[in-house]
Amino acid sequence: MSINVGIIGTGRIAHMQLAPAMQHVKGARLWSVLSRDEQRAAEFANQHGAMAPVNAYASLSAFLADPSLDAVIIATPDGLHAQQAIAAARAGKHVLLEKPMATTAEDAATITETCTEERVKLGIAYHLRWHAGHRKVAEMLHGGELGKPRYARAIWTWEADDNSNWRAHKELGQWWGLAGVGTHCIDLMRWMLLPQCGEVNRCVGVIDKSQYGGPHDETASVTLQFGDSVVADITTSVMFSTLSRFELHCDDASVICEGTLGASGSGTILINNTPLEYDVMNPYVGEIQNFIDAIEGKARIAVPGSEGQRNVELLAQASSAAG
Ligand SMILES: NC(=O)c1ccc[n+]([C@@H]2O[C@H](COP(=O)([O-])OP(=O)(O)OC[C@H]3O[C@@H](n4cnc5c(N)ncnc54)[C@H](OP(=O)(O)O)[C@@H]3O)[C@@H](O)[C@H]2O)c1
Repeated sequence: MSINVGIIGTGRIAHMQLAPAMQHVKGARLWSVLSRDEQRAAEFANQHGAMAPVNAYASLSAFLADPSLDAVIIATPDGLHAQQAIAAARAGKHVLLEKPMATTAEDAATITETCTEERVKLGIAYHLRWHAGHRKVAEMLHGGELGKPRYARAIWTWEADDNSNWRAHKELGQWWGLAGVGTHCIDLMRWMLLPQCGEVNRCVGVIDKSQYGGPHDETASVTLQFGDSVVADITTSVMFSTLSRFELHCDDASVICEGTLGASGSGTILINNTPLEYDVMNPYVGEIQNFIDAIEGKARIAVPGSEGQRNVELLAQASSAAG
């Protein structure tokens, strides 16, 4: 039997990645859609083939009241995640929540606690963990093939046209570039480094917001220290676009990933200057498949609420350290 999945929000990530990916996920189907506007919900539902007899809603409570709805994917502005995720969990629906899971660590904790109380699965949508090349690197690193990690860094940026996006403002967001892409880099570092290096013990941030003078980071640099040794540097910006890069330097190998931080699941990976072969796979399919498999008891959630919460704590720490 298929798991019926509803999507909340009809924006960019829902339309470009999540709903199309649903078509390739085994054991699940897109069931219904919630938008602020019923017409927009209907268009989205029909375009992406949502299967419910009533497949478009503009009311959260009506959407969640459907007894055939098993799970939701929440793809709305970060400041709305807590209220929507808690309502979904209280209605007994499993939750795959876009990143960052909340705009405060307190909200992140409440979401996690509520999902535990209601015995529903909670996954946080860090799709870079489902990049096939990254997965090979992680396997080699965690298997000891690359030697002891010493240092890592990542840069991921884009050029915003202006500051009209909700991420630039306090009402619906808490960070700009850090929420758009920095949180992914933090997750990537934690995924790679935690097993050998231990928890992040220091987190320092430097932030520039001088172009628009708004409340949130335009360019940010975050340094994490894992355990009492390994340092990881992360740079994000909404002021310029450049090829993304992730570097991991270990005793026996240096890994250089170019263009792998993104939606496509592609890019080049060199290990000691030798290209790493991998099959390009849609990381959003892997991410949603993991959520469905976890609901069916066949897998563990790759990024649980506790990990999403720690990520939010580090975003908060980095930006408060930056003043
Ligand atoms: N993992 C990834 O690769 C990735 C990439 C991009 C974004 N994201 C995450 O996904 C979430 C959505 O990001 P996005 O880029 O898709 O944003 P977006 O294009 O602005 O879409 C957000 C959608 O949320 C709904 N929404 C509900 N209340 C809203 C409000 N008051 N203001 C604006 N929109 C509202 C809207 O759909 P209706 O108009 O239908 O209500 C809107 O289209 C964020 O948490 C973001 O961090 C993840």
